[in-house]
Amino acid sequence: MATLSGGAIAQGEDARRLAAGLAVMSGDVRLLAGKGETLQRREGLRARVTGDLSSLPLLLRRAGGDAAAVPPLRAALAKEDWRTLERELAVLSRRHPLDLHTLSLATPSPERLRLGAAIHRERCAGCHDASNADAKLPALNLFEQSRKMPREEFAARLIIGVRGNGSTAYGNPFSDLELGALISYYGLN
Ligand code: HEC
Repeated sequence: MATLSGGAIAQGEDARRLAAGLAVMSGDVRLLAGKGETLQRREGLRARVTGDLSSLPLLLRRAGGDAAAVPPLRAALAKEDWRTLERELAVLSRRHPLDLHTLSLATPSPERLRLGAAIHRERCAGCHDASNADAKLPALNLFEQSRKMPREEFAARLIIGVRGNGSTAYGNPFSDLELGALISYYGLN
């Protein structure tokens, strides 16, 4: 196989979207399986998992996966059988892993941390540093979030979370350099 010099080849957009979506779903199911969340936020999380499961067949097909995996997940959600959901999502995640190597997270340079800080200040802090905790899905403090979960899950939440909604749609507005800078910045604070 040929090697490309300087060659970090990004995971394709469809594969990344699927892998990150699976990681976020797993994280949300883990929160639902626990007892730490308020009733209000549980409602928000449950609604999000429900929505994510409805778009999962499409994501799987786009990424060359098997949409037959989805009905058992739906059945488990209907029964609030979090253990089964966690287990089945883990199987899918192993089949569709999130590739973070193009985000260069290992040793963030000072410039990279400055870039992360600047993006946060200009484009995220307004909502996330003054959270409306009463919302079903509040804009949580991203530094705290980064401490609470494995880095891969946090990266997945960022990949999905800054994408916008259906109207801003397909492309992620941040480059890998910017995503990596944000993840490094939140991780160090
Ligand atoms: C206009 C307000 C607003 C701005 C600006 C904003 N966010 Fe958010 N963000 C939210 C809200 C509200 C949510 C919760 C809704 C949800 O999870 O669907 C959210 C969710 C997220 C999540 C997902 C959390 C989870 O539970 O999975 C991440 C990650 C995130 N934002 C990161 C960012 C970053 C990084 C920026 C800046 C580049 C940013 N956001 C800018 C309001 C905002």
